Amino acid sequence: MSEHVLVERRGAVQVIRMNRPDKKNAITRAMYAAMSGALRGGDADEAVRCHVFLGVPGAFSAGNDLAEFLAVATGGEGGGEVWDFLIALAESRKPMVSGVDGIAVGIGTTLNLHCDLTFATPRTVFRTPFVDLGLVPEAGSSLLVPAIAGRQQAFAMLGLGEGFSAERAKELGLIYEIVGEAALEERVLDAAAQIAAKPPGALRIARDLMRGSREELVARIGEEAAHFRRQLASDEARAALTAFMARKKT
Ligand code: COA
Repeated sequence: MSEHVLVERRGAVQVIRMNRPDKKNAITRAMYAAMSGALRGGDADEAVRCHVFLGVPGAFSAGNDLAEFLAVATGGEGGGEVWDFLIALAESRKPMVSGVDGIAVGIGTTLNLHCDLTFATPRTVFRTPFVDLGLVPEAGSSLLVPAIAGRQQAFAMLGLGEGFSAERAKELGLIYEIVGEAALEERVLDAAAQIAAKPPGALRIARDLMRGSREELVARIGEEAAHFRRQLASDEARAALTAFMARKKT
């Protein structure tokens, strides 16, 4: 488990909250492992009917912990926890709802592509600067974003790394609803409770039909991961990651 991920049950809803506010919810390997464990545990538990992802006020997540990426980029071990979490997301058996407020970078954006309903506040900015970091899209985003928003929007988002507002995300069909900061968590939990009250067998079938092939998604996540690992060891990525860490010290 990780002290930076809080997991709680609210009736039939399992709430997974990223809670590392001093680092804007940058996600560490331990946090990925805790979230994978919660997802798989909840999927296996009949009492859980819906998963909810939340962050802290102003920060859903600043993405993968870049210090950990830099460690791998400079020859360190690890990284399996990230991919394991992405597979757990893609294979989740129960509906997932997310509530996003503020910063949503990298996986802080792409995690929501796997959710069945995403609510975001007006001040939320989504951004996926993978290429700027010398990296490539992950979490199946290279498959999911073109399918949802079209190739041109996908290129702007995943190629150019353009940031976009909650309003734009809603126009593109990437999120469900915009909710004010004060109402976000209540709205998310209400939606999750509504999901949890549905006949689970019928809802599972309906959801599986809408989500399409899990195999294709999991295969794409694997393909992205192979490229990602190679790029992480590239000069491009090392330079970008080192620049971010150096910026920190000035
Ligand atoms: N990994 C590791 N640490 C991170 C981080 C990340 N992804 N994002 C933020 N942090 C840390 C900062 O280094 C800083 O730590 P410090 O207080 O010890 O110096 C702390 O979180 C606060 O971040 P800061 O940059 O001061 O906040 P900000 O509000 O000015 O900016 C961001 C927030 C998210 C815009 C900025 O931190 C950023 O661009 N982070 C990197 C995002 C990213 O590229 N993620 C990876 C995508 S694949």
